[in-house]
Amino acid sequence: MIGDITPRSSVERLKRGVYGKKELQREFDAALVAAVVGMSRAFIARALDRPGSRPKTFTLAEVLILLDVDGFQETFIPRSRIPEYLLRDAVAPPSEIPALRRSARELAGAKLLVGDARDLLPRLDPGSVQCVVTSSPYWGMRVYDNERNVRWADGESCPYGFEQTPEGFIRHTIEMLVLLKPAVAQKGSVWWNIMDTHNTRTPIRGNARERLDAMGEAPGSRKGWTEHGACRHSAGHMYLDDTELSSIPPRIAERASRVGYKLKSFITWRKHTSTPEAAKSRVSRQAEYLLHLSIDRTPFFDKGAWQALPPELGGPNKQYESTEKITDVWSLPTSSGQNGHGAAFPVALAGRCVALTSRKGDLVLDPFLGSGTTAIAAIELGRRCEGYDISEKYIDVAEQRISLAIGQQPTSVESASEAGVGLRDASSAKVAPKRASPSRKGKPARRRTGNKKQTVASPDGLESVG
Ligand SMILES: C[S@@+](CC[C@H](N)C(=O)[O-])C[C@H]1O[C@@H](n2cnc3c(N)ncnc32)[C@H](O)[C@@H]1O
Repeated sequence: MIGDITPRSSVERLKRGVYGKKELQREFDAALVAAVVGMSRAFIARALDRPGSRPKTFTLAEVLILLDVDGFQETFIPRSRIPEYLLRDAVAPPSEIPALRRSARELAGAKLLVGDARDLLPRLDPGSVQCVVTSSPYWGMRVYDNERNVRWADGESCPYGFEQTPEGFIRHTIEMLVLLKPAVAQKGSVWWNIMDTHNTRTPIRGNARERLDAMGEAPGSRKGWTEHGACRHSAGHMYLDDTELSSIPPRIAERASRVGYKLKSFITWRKHTSTPEAAKSRVSRQAEYLLHLSIDRTPFFDKGAWQALPPELGGPNKQYESTEKITDVWSLPTSSGQNGHGAAFPVALAGRCVALTSRKGDLVLDPFLGSGTTAIAAIELGRRCEGYDISEKYIDVAEQRISLAIGQQPTSVESASEAGVGLRDASSAKVAPKRASPSRKGKPARRRTGNKKQTVASPDGLESVG
């Protein structure tokens, strides 16, 4: 059961003078230090009075100097916890998802995995993903099926999107981006759909309409707002007042750039309809945002492929958009919401991103697959696809939607470790915990056959370590 969100910012300070000589001289990988302090390696060399050098490691004593530099900005670890993180936690702890049934299915070149993206991302082959299109949970907005705690590098333990503060959510999003980065091809792109949250008191529900009903906006609804299962409160934040916008998307954009992505564009998705919300002292929202991030300064980008697309796959929307020039305002419909998932984006959005930044046969990834929209677009455009979701129910929905789209029955369901699915073996993953493969554990495979699905799944192997 999910608890309330109370944005009470904790008061923490960086402790100095508690580290001995040996700890202060310990060396840490330069790329990791650059990601936690949010500075480029060239800038760090300058800040440490070694301009022009490119050190491979930095000591804890040097890290403490960097934490005092003007312009320091936390990325995925709060400043006060950075020394402890480097000294003790830098190898990511296993995620806390007991009894999560990890399984994989495959159809039409798409591999769908039930699992925590934080566990699965580090297992991808380096440089194997050309294009990522995804929409993570937004902060404090939706209750999804099967919410499970994830243990994060900053010490918080909560489902993604259920952090106590927007800062926690921003940190966790950056942690996901840091885990994803090694898998993105040099000329690849990441398209990250994100929305902002007002710091208001509200029940948290499956979709915006349910939330309005719960607030008593629907006729006949008399429940007080705190009588609902999960609520978001608004008092106690370090500076955000009640009803204020949290500024989450621009803060994620800045930090993505600080951890080494190139921020190519900050796109406004102008939806055809506005968000149903009871706003009396401000304008209603009709926009969401999309960050276009890359590894290289000049990622692969094919405007011609976009021009050739039909509108339903994200080609120019002639009513609102030029057919010549693609700009940073995209006019696309909202999803119909009829597919068993309250927060899907339209196929046109995913198709546009896939066509612009990948070629036929490339691997497209969606680590928060939901109802499978990215996979549908990728298959339509002849790309391979891999998608994760923590909810088995949503992976089922995705499988059914893809089957309908391609006019084929689902073909296989198998345990994640047997499936391969472009994942490196856990033992070679940099930060993922080791798992025993189901076959090594000597458990027999269970085969369930029927008209629709073939299941080859060892129940034991499907358990997540946690
Ligand atoms: C905004 S929805 C994605 C919707 C999707 N774009 C679509 O069109 O259907 C976010 C999804 O992230 C999933 N999710 C939440 N935490 C996760 C985690 N730690 N790992 C993988 N998936 C997660 C939720 O179950 C939810 O389906």
